[in-house]
Amino acid sequence: MTTIRHLEHSSDDARLGVSTTITFENKYEFCGYSFKIVRFINANLGYSAYVWEAGLALCRYFERENISFNGKKVIELGSGTGIVGILATLLGGDVTITDKPNIMTQIENNVCINIPTACRQRIKVRPLKWGEDHTNFLTDYDFVLGSDIVYSSVTYPALVETLRHLVKQGGAIYLSTEIREKNGSTSFHEELLPQHFNCQVVDNLEDKDIIVYKMTKIATSPGDGLLTENK
Ligand SMILES: C[S@@+](CC[C@H](N)C(=O)[O-])C[C@H]1O[C@@H](n2cnc3c(N)ncnc32)[C@H](O)[C@@H]1O
Repeated sequence: MTTIRHLEHSSDDARLGVSTTITFENKYEFCGYSFKIVRFINANLGYSAYVWEAGLALCRYFERENISFNGKKVIELGSGTGIVGILATLLGGDVTITDKPNIMTQIENNVCINIPTACRQRIKVRPLKWGEDHTNFLTDYDFVLGSDIVYSSVTYPALVETLRHLVKQGGAIYLSTEIREKNGSTSFHEELLPQHFNCQVVDNLEDKDIIVYKMTKIATSPGDGLLTENK
């Protein structure tokens, strides 16, 4: 990974007293694609202004397992910079990248940089605050993706509600979580989520305390279990 720091401003900005935007640029490679991820450093984006290790772990998992999203409906939650959703688009998905409203510009910028014009009709960037906006979205997603979105226990009930709403029966949720002491992430994965989903550990990076989980909805009627499962 390489990092480049930029200051973006114009003489007009200076005259008008508009503050300078500081951006950092990181380069990555996954699944044969090169990415340039630009992060807005001084725009009060908080945790969203970083590419988290759990996000990179999920990208590496897709690469190693040769996951294809071809023709599949995919939604990413708490995307931050957009890197996971951008990879899912390049791997063939029809992808909606989401996060809080103030993060949209950073994600849209990275979509413009990394997604060729020919694929743009397969990617959307939309605001989605867990537990509040999910009903604006359909309930038929083949894949729901999230990396490092399990870190604050106050958000867990809303996150479960949103996950349950979005994923279709037979669809799959991939969550890549850095297990941190005291934020309840272990009990979220081992106690709360299994009440609603079949949960499986598919990757465990012990040196970084990152676990990738795959989850599917628990069948609620006899016919549910007969649906074809996503990889
Ligand atoms: C630690 S960052 C992870 C960013 C990215 N997924 C990654 O792995 O690099 C957590 C992300 O979750 C988003 N987030 C936190 N609480 C949220 C909520 N209630 N609704 C929607 N997004 C939320 C934040 O805005 C942030 O982008």
